[in-house]
Amino acid sequence: MVKLVAMMLAVALWALSALAQEPASQQISEELKAVLQAKGSPERGKAMFRQCQDCHGADASGRTSGLYPRLSGQHATVLMKQITDMLAGRRINRKMRFYFDDHVLKSGDIADIAVYLRGLPISTKNGKGPGIGDIALGKKLYEKDCVECHGAKGEGKAEKFYPMVAAQHFGYLARQLQYIRDGDRGNSNPDMVKLLKSHYMSTDLEAVAAYMAQLPPPKK
Ligand code: HEC
Ligand code: HEC
Repeated sequence: MVKLVAMMLAVALWALSALAQEPASQQISEELKAVLQAKGSPERGKAMFRQCQDCHGADASGRTSGLYPRLSGQHATVLMKQITDMLAGRRINRKMRFYFDDHVLKSGDIADIAVYLRGLPISTKNGKGPGIGDIALGKKLYEKDCVECHGAKGEGKAEKFYPMVAAQHFGYLARQLQYIRDGDRGNSNPDMVKLLKSHYMSTDLEAVAAYMAQLPPPKK
């Protein structure tokens, strides 16, 4: 565990320096800076996560329907950025908004939860979708347009805050792609939005979501 925490801290500090030259939506906010610098404790994170498990599941695997995303195994930096963005209202999440209004999460709490979640195993029993997505088409689109940021295996990139997208629930992926394309997520990477707006019909979004959902969990 000590090794894991030390590694996370190294990644976080690296991320701080890497992000200095990024576009506005990718720049590190003051709140995120504080979270990245906090020393996350997985033990405390485990206790803190109890308040999240009604929706995200005790093992943080979410729901196969995709209503709630899997959080286990996701990069700690990605979780830290998405949580601080949601808290600040930069990422729109109406379901969690009510929840956040009643609960105060401090920088240290967010860091604790993120390092805990990153260390959890990734379930392969994720929702693969109702078979409406054309996986061959999805593979073609993904390899052309998405690999650059999300990686050939869907592993993402911790130091750039690019999420791991492999083995996530189809329903969640398809919904996020729609939100991102239509500007309903709020904190989206502008290059990705431009890409999706330029030539992605709903059937393309379903295809690429189906492809990502069936990718096996990347090795950590
Ligand atoms: C009332 C249900 C609910 C509770 C409680 C809840 N969440 Fe969520 N959470 C959601 C929903 C729904 C989404 C997906 C929103 C969307 O579709 O845009 C989400 C999304 C997220 C995401 C984004 C995942 C990603 O891949 O970008 C993170 C991170 C997250 N939640 C963390 C937490 C943490 C940490 C807690 C506890 C402190 C928590 N949530 C409590 C419902 C909940
Ligand atoms: C320029 C880099 C870049 C490219 C290219 C890109 N993305 Fe992203 N993607 C991001 C970043 C950064 C995020 C996290 C924040 C955001 O922008 O919403 C993200 C978020 C996502 C999410 C939400 C994940 C989650 O857990 O909530 C999905 C799904 C996704 N991207 C799929 C794709 C697909 C499919 C493509 C190709 C069609 C693609 N992305 C191309 C950078 C990129």
